[in-house]
Amino acid sequence: MASNDSPLTIWLVGASQGIGLALTERLLDQGHCVIATARNACQSAELLALQAQHNLEIPRLHLLDGDVQADTVQALCQQAWVLGNGIDIWFYNAGLYSAMRTTEWELSAFTAMNQVNYLGAVKLMIELESLQRQTAKPMRWIWNISLSADFGLPYGGGYSAPKAALLNLAESLQPELAQQKIQLQVINHGFVKTRLTAKNTFNMPGLMPPEEAAERISQWMFAPSRRFELRFPFALATTLAILKRLPKSLSLWLTKRML
Ligand SMILES: NC(=O)c1ccc[n+]([C@@H]2O[C@H](COP(=O)([O-])OP(=O)(O)OC[C@H]3O[C@@H](n4cnc5c(N)ncnc54)[C@H](OP(=O)(O)O)[C@@H]3O)[C@@H](O)[C@H]2O)c1
Repeated sequence: MASNDSPLTIWLVGASQGIGLALTERLLDQGHCVIATARNACQSAELLALQAQHNLEIPRLHLLDGDVQADTVQALCQQAWVLGNGIDIWFYNAGLYSAMRTTEWELSAFTAMNQVNYLGAVKLMIELESLQRQTAKPMRWIWNISLSADFGLPYGGGYSAPKAALLNLAESLQPELAQQKIQLQVINHGFVKTRLTAKNTFNMPGLMPPEEAAERISQWMFAPSRRFELRFPFALATTLAILKRLPKSLSLWLTKRML
């Protein structure tokens, strides 16, 4: 479906910052209706400004506070469903990142990344599948994962391991969900300049602004081909795909050089 076809209702979880915020703006510009969720969506100055700009005649941007780590996810899904009068696209974009050396390991950091980067999506999908089953209306689920799901890199495993789990889950679920008119797609991209990568002190090849990432994502979302996976930028995506397929002893010899 092209972006200028009939407007869609998109629930964007992780919409208050970085890529999610840039994508919210892009989707609104294309005429869609967005339900923007984050822990502090209703207090986000950027989202409130977008609301003032886009909610002139009919409300097209709804702000919905929600924490995917909380036990209130069932209610959150129902609120989003009611706000949108159903949901056409659920876009899961919430993510947490901490790089850790062995001397910095914290169980709480591993747990939080597991909760947000993997289990949050699982909790939401269980509720949304149940809501979709009641209407049997077609739906799309898009999960923003990461190129780091291809191969665990030094210090980043606490982040990339739950991302790899999410990718594996998506591959497992896609055929079954398709039979039920839920199209599941994934995005695996590289470095984007956000508060998340601001923590990195190393050189980030292919680093791009969130607006560029959002542009690539929205073009792919509304392209007619509807491919399962979007990967970018090309050079980093190819490097990681090769790293994944090499004999492990060789891949690990290469990644040791990153220490
Ligand atoms: N930046 C990169 O280089 C990069 C590369 C590959 C993949 N990604 C993925 O892209 C996605 C967006 O990343 P970003 O760089 O734009 O990060 P970001 O600027 O930190 O934005 C993350 C978003 O997720 C929300 N969020 C975090 N924890 C949440 C929770 N418990 N419940 C609900 N919402 C929560 C944040 O809002 P609140 O804090 O207000 O809750 C924020 O809106 C993430 O999944 C990330 O893993 C990023």
